[in-house]
Amino acid sequence: MADNFLLNRRDVLKLGLGTLTGMGAVAFAKNVSLQQQIQSDDHLTRNFNTSGKGTLKERAAAKGLIYGAAIRYPDLSSDSLLAAAVAKECGMLVPEWELKWSAGKQALRPNKDNFDFRAADWMANFANSHNLLFRGHTLVWHDSLPPWFKYEVNRQNAELFLTKHINKVVGHYAGRIHSWDVVNEAIALWDKRSDNFRKTPWLEYLGTDYIELAFRLAAIADPKALLVYNDYDLDYDTSKHEAKRNAVLNLLQRLKSKGTPVHALGIQAHLSGDSKSFNAQKFRAFLGQVAGLGLKIMITEMDVKDDKLPKDPQKRDQAIASAYEDYLSAALDEKAVNTVITWGLSDKYTWLSEFKPRPDRSPVRPLPLDDKMQQKLAWRAIARAFDHAPQR
Ligand code: G3I
Repeated sequence: MADNFLLNRRDVLKLGLGTLTGMGAVAFAKNVSLQQQIQSDDHLTRNFNTSGKGTLKERAAAKGLIYGAAIRYPDLSSDSLLAAAVAKECGMLVPEWELKWSAGKQALRPNKDNFDFRAADWMANFANSHNLLFRGHTLVWHDSLPPWFKYEVNRQNAELFLTKHINKVVGHYAGRIHSWDVVNEAIALWDKRSDNFRKTPWLEYLGTDYIELAFRLAAIADPKALLVYNDYDLDYDTSKHEAKRNAVLNLLQRLKSKGTPVHALGIQAHLSGDSKSFNAQKFRAFLGQVAGLGLKIMITEMDVKDDKLPKDPQKRDQAIASAYEDYLSAALDEKAVNTVITWGLSDKYTWLSEFKPRPDRSPVRPLPLDDKMQQKLAWRAIARAFDHAPQR
């Protein structure tokens, strides 16, 4: 029953796409409200049945997709149950901290002259020994810059620092890495620039060409790596997300028009379990526009926060799983989408515990596995999305 229901829901999605081209705004409006009605009513009753015993890695691979997770070195190196779950469920590993300039306890950039690859190397070796693809996050970002950065980097030497960082870090993993988030979150509409660029030290010191420079340096340092522009707030049918999608599209068009070696858009997909604003047709249309630029698409940091959902874990899990399934049903219909990464694998280690805690202080439940590495409804929702995805 459930699968038929999902297929019916997917048919409605496809019909939705048909109405975009074939029928008028009235039909579109009716279809959208139907979509939202489906999302709102059925998530309390959907049973998320799955068939077979495949892991997320296996179900993704069966459709030519990759499933992975972002994990931290301190957790992966100390929790054997987590390490076993990562090895079992994931086809790709992304260091949540260890390839940023400075995050967590062991900074990649402890000072202006040195690099500390120990934690990231340990994770690269873990990936290699478990046949996982390895992914780098992130080379150029306004956040997680080391304390010394503001004293040492300036307009005169910023290009030297950027060049040295990318050459050293990308060169260190050349040939061993699937993809890099070369530039992360460079668009910020609230900074009110006409080009919607975020006001970061990189923009201040190097101007708007810093993004193109970063991609060109990375392409030289590792010609095999997929080079990704990564950003968030691209998901929902809201004026804020619509404006962000348009700004990111403009950036990608600008980069492509200059021949910049950008190969993919990373959509972070930090979702809200209480949101009623997901519109599959509009999201699919955006993905089609990105694919139309000749770009691949990676879902790079997916999780579903539950800070505004009821306390009852079953009700929360239903809403969270519905958010995963609705979003991935739409995303995976676009064949340019080749990867789904969750930002963490187990609720035990999610960043949301600290950054988006629940008002009632009950443990958050945003990820596929619970704190004991057991599969949740979210796991089944992701599994179903892979099972129903078209073959790549
Ligand atoms: O726990 C250590 C503490 O011992 C140490 O003294 C301190 C020194 O800075 O760091 C503490 O760890 C911090 C950790 O949060 C726990 O508080 C890290 O520095 C800090 O980097 C980390 O925040 C991370 C954040 O990015 C900034 O790097 C989050 O874990 C991480 O989930 C988050 O991930 C970002 C993506 O990279 C980009 N997209 C959004 C996403 C969520 O914000």
